[in-house]
Amino acid sequence: MGKNKGLRHVAIIMDGNGRWATSKGLTRSTGHEKGTLNIQNVLRAFSDRGVLFVTLYAFSTENWNRPRNEVDNLMSLTVSSISEQLEELHSEGIKITHLGEKSSLPEEVRVAIEECETLTSSNKKLVLNIAFNYGGRKEIVTAVKQLIREHICPEDLTEEDISSRLYTKEIPDPDMIIRTAGEMRLSNFLIWQSAYSEYYSTKTLWPDFGESDVVEALEEYSKRTRKFGEL
Ligand code: FPP
Repeated sequence: MGKNKGLRHVAIIMDGNGRWATSKGLTRSTGHEKGTLNIQNVLRAFSDRGVLFVTLYAFSTENWNRPRNEVDNLMSLTVSSISEQLEELHSEGIKITHLGEKSSLPEEVRVAIEECETLTSSNKKLVLNIAFNYGGRKEIVTAVKQLIREHICPEDLTEEDISSRLYTKEIPDPDMIIRTAGEMRLSNFLIWQSAYSEYYSTKTLWPDFGESDVVEALEEYSKRTRKFGEL
């Protein structure tokens, strides 16, 4: 069990599946398949080092704007990877939860995600949050709509009122956000929750992100001094 300096929650923007595939002359969907197969290794590597929560950005509200065949492919890959990996994740004690809007998902995707949540709800080893059809701004708007429905008095409104109405209400804020494939942006991911997260970007493409990259990210995290706005 490696030292992780109190790091409980890692959130990951799994970028670069497409670039990984095209650099090898493969189809983008092969890149997404390879990226999906990588998830369990990375979860294991973080879990072995004491991380308790991992959040993966699997499909954003903006990803609907990709070409129709890529969207269809990501949807069917999600269903097939759940059916292939769920038993093993469950037997490893992983609890799966969904962050995002379920109601507008294709029925079979929604059912598959709900099956994951139901089967694994009592597991305790690691919480895997899958952000799927997730958008940070939409999440905040949904929370505000809820507060308005509850007739919240503007003068009484607190940050906690908003936090407790987000998809992430039951989990701590991410300590570290990792983005693979070299980009330096959050892309509407956990924009409220990442106010004080440490940001880490690596050029490694998601399908190549393995145990040594996990170790490198944790080492970098251990060098950071988190000040939360204080001196
Ligand atoms: C980014 O690569 C990756 C995605 C948009 C999708 C990630 C989805 C998965 C790994 C599969 C589904 C996951 C779960 C948990 C069921 P990109 O296509 O943006 O790569 P590029 O920037 O190189 O084109």
